[in-house]
Amino acid sequence: MKHFLNTQDWPLDDLQAVIDGGKSFRGIPVHPHLTGKSIALLFFNPSLRTRTSFEIGAFHLGAHAVVLQPGQDAWPLEFEMGVIMDDEAEEHVQEAASVLSRYCDLIAVRAFPKFMNWQEDRQDKILNAFATHSSVPVINMETITHPCQELAHIMALQDRLGDLKGRKYVLTWTWHPRPLNTAVANSALMIATRFGMDVTLLCPDEEFLLDERYLSNARKNALETEGAFQVSHDIESSYDGAEIVYAKSWGAIPYFGRWDEEKPKRDRYKHFIVDECKMAMTNEAIFSHCLPMRRNVKATDQVIDSQNSIVLEEAANRMHVQKAIMCDLLGVPMTTNTHTQKDLTHASST
Ligand code: CP
Repeated sequence: MKHFLNTQDWPLDDLQAVIDGGKSFRGIPVHPHLTGKSIALLFFNPSLRTRTSFEIGAFHLGAHAVVLQPGQDAWPLEFEMGVIMDDEAEEHVQEAASVLSRYCDLIAVRAFPKFMNWQEDRQDKILNAFATHSSVPVINMETITHPCQELAHIMALQDRLGDLKGRKYVLTWTWHPRPLNTAVANSALMIATRFGMDVTLLCPDEEFLLDERYLSNARKNALETEGAFQVSHDIESSYDGAEIVYAKSWGAIPYFGRWDEEKPKRDRYKHFIVDECKMAMTNEAIFSHCLPMRRNVKATDQVIDSQNSIVLEEAANRMHVQKAIMCDLLGVPMTTNTHTQKDLTHASST
């Protein structure tokens, strides 16, 4: 069964094909490729972009999306095998995934870490349980990585810069009042190195490094693509000559579950904000962020609203690439064709 859990599992050509498919959907948004199909969107966490773009994207393709929030409007779920279910959960993922597979053609899951124990969270149990017990393809809508965001990001960068190989890319940690998920940062490292860029992970100190799994993927990708990957704690040299600045905040992994101890350390690094002074050191760098983003905390108004900011383009691309992912997983050609569009135009005018 082919799933979309991580980009690292997919060949680069297939990722580029999905991005190209997304570009063609951008030209002709309404296209009945998935008429009669359905997708269950399971949200264990809040969302604005992901929920809206999947729901509208499915609608554009003639498919129906069902949104479920386990523990709120759907039964709370159990994910451990062989347990006595005498706590909160009313249903096991074994039945939930099997039942949804009988109603739906696709299942998509958003399940952030619980932020208490990284060794537990890094197993990505909820997503993997759905992949194991579903008989239809499963899509990761953000767990400990965010692969849909990765493709939207690359699509927006390609639109502005063309070929990305060798481009100087900086993923910078930024301050935030709360510890946040490392998913987008993990994803940014993997996809930027996958596309052969010269990638710098800029973070305050070693405690803010990402999980070794993603650092090692980034090193391996950089070797394979003849790109580069390095870690820096120096703001000036990281920004110097950068062509892309991607901002993200995340909680320091050694402090998972002990956030009161991490906060005073994190609070020393508010100066990691992306501002005009730092952007002036770059080679007219493109700026982006996955959103949502607290203004004047992670980046200043001037940076977010500048001509070089692609935050809205990247967000818009989410819908386009997700349409292509849904089609690809269901074996439907991703490109639009003009005949069908003419038929639609004709149908709507008669
Ligand atoms: N970038 C992103 O996934 O946005 P939401 O959390 O609003 O879905």
